Amino acid sequence: MTAVEVGVEVAADGEVAVVTLRRERKLNALSTGLEHELLAALGSARVTTSRAVVVTGGGTVFSAGADVDELRDMTPEAIAEYYRGSGRVYERLAGLPQPTVAAITGYCLGGGLELALAADLRVADPRAVFGLPEVGLGILPSSGGIARLVRALGPARTRDLVLRARRFGPDQAERWGLLTEVTETGEHLARALALAHELTALPPPALAVTKQVIDAAAESSHHTALLLERLAYTALHRTT
Ligand code: COA
Repeated sequence: MTAVEVGVEVAADGEVAVVTLRRERKLNALSTGLEHELLAALGSARVTTSRAVVVTGGGTVFSAGADVDELRDMTPEAIAEYYRGSGRVYERLAGLPQPTVAAITGYCLGGGLELALAADLRVADPRAVFGLPEVGLGILPSSGGIARLVRALGPARTRDLVLRARRFGPDQAERWGLLTEVTETGEHLARALALAHELTALPPPALAVTKQVIDAAAESSHHTALLLERLAYTALHRTT
């Protein structure tokens, strides 16, 4: 295990990689520095050789979102550079071939929620607080928050949550299908690990290809989605 006080810790739990944000004093605010570390962590051998990945903020908070102190000074050039740099971290998580589980407690706001939405599954304990506060700051969610919510919830609920910068709790999130499970208090990480271990028993090629087909099907016509399923099935047949 790489133990760090501020940064990103990557540990192995058998075949599961556990990636932990460690900036608790700032509620794991996603500064570009922290995002760079997360980007590196997701590309590290411990993650790439794992069969499943758990992403967490630890025992008190997931993440209070982008570092608002950095946001204030950004120019359009700096924003463009950001998306070429540490801003890629959300899609890197979404693009991992192995299954990913976000383990959430406490604040899961803005970029924190966008990071959680980039995982395949999400579990949270009752202390979790979700929301996208960006519009209240004069900006908007721009790391996949709107893109993913609108697919998961449809435009009406997305408008309600994003335009009103509305906070919501884990029970609502579970009802809407954003959460896989709400755990007992303090059990979010243990449950996420259990789910991740369960997934390590399944064939990695089938998981990796199915993840891609689900993503592609979400933005395809019915006919194209069926074709993708069948082509992928043909490619996967006899891989295990
Ligand atoms: N960016 C930078 N620093 C942040 C932060 C963020 N998004 N969220 C929290 N912090 C820092 C605070 O500045 C504070 O630092 P300090 O102790 O050096 O003053 C520390 O984390 C603790 O936060 P604090 O505000 O004292 O905790 P709280 O429990 O009173 O309030 C929140 C928690 C989440 C409601 C509040 O911190 C907040 O609104 N944060 C911003 C959330 C946000 O807008 N995120 C989206 C950005 S696009």
